[in-house]
Amino acid sequence: MRLYRSTAELDFDSVSQLPPRAEPGRVLMVRPDYFEVAYVINPHMEGHVGAVDRQRAQEQWEALRGTYERLGFPVIALPGVEGLPDMVFAANQSLPFQSPEGERRVWMSRMHAPERRPEVPYIEAWYRSEGYRIDHFLDPEISDFEGMGDAIWHPGHMLLWGGYGFRSSLRAYEEIARRWGVRVIALELRDPDFYHLDTCFCALDERTVLIYPGAFTREGLALIGALWPRVLEAPESEARRLFACNAHCPDGRHVLIQAGCRETIRCLRTQGFEVIELDTGEYLKSGGSVFCMKMMVY
Ligand code: ARG
Repeated sequence: MRLYRSTAELDFDSVSQLPPRAEPGRVLMVRPDYFEVAYVINPHMEGHVGAVDRQRAQEQWEALRGTYERLGFPVIALPGVEGLPDMVFAANQSLPFQSPEGERRVWMSRMHAPERRPEVPYIEAWYRSEGYRIDHFLDPEISDFEGMGDAIWHPGHMLLWGGYGFRSSLRAYEEIARRWGVRVIALELRDPDFYHLDTCFCALDERTVLIYPGAFTREGLALIGALWPRVLEAPESEARRLFACNAHCPDGRHVLIQAGCRETIRCLRTQGFEVIELDTGEYLKSGGSVFCMKMMVY
């Protein structure tokens, strides 16, 4: 299919014209047994090496898992692996997809940081055991793609939003668009604090997205404005320090978000969402929050 980088390239007016896409109903998480900040691969990790409180991290993880279960989403919890402290960020190693024919497929990541590359085979093994059809990049020039950290499906439709610049490359989306036959809107990221698309862009429902505008280019903001009828904005302090946009709305109604994002939460409630505040403080030290601690799977 196609990759779009500006509104001038769009050949459809509205996402509602694009084919429907089934949403996954289960949550894949990786236990935080070996979670820590052991190296610095994003600006949020600076000053936090060795500073994770394991007990609190465990409690925060359990609270998130319990929240998904209460909302009716079964959680699959994979064991952590010693020496892979970031594997708990289950959004990054893969991108699952269900084809229009109903086939469950997954694209495996090529992690930007060498420290994280060994995580991918463990996650791939789970998909294999589930009978997914597994795709890897064929183009040897593609060095970076970090799964759902950067590639976010438009709720309910066959459209992928792809962030690039820090952890994923534009070229990765060309191959995904072509081989999966999907449209991809490419959004360049320009602020290192917002190194993954999921740090500044949260798809809430078919019509609504929550963003931090300062993370995008002019073209990117124009694409977002053209295709989302409702664009909510998180204030800079909440987006940068509390990962307000790393929230997750699994059902178009409840929004799981880091506690204390006051203005963002007020805005979400005004728009009719039910907000569930969670403390992900130990994970913020590593540059992650709710959205990156799980993967929605079919
Ligand atoms: N420390 C991890 C890294 O830098 C955090 C990943 C957070 N994941 C995310 N999807 N934003 O890779």
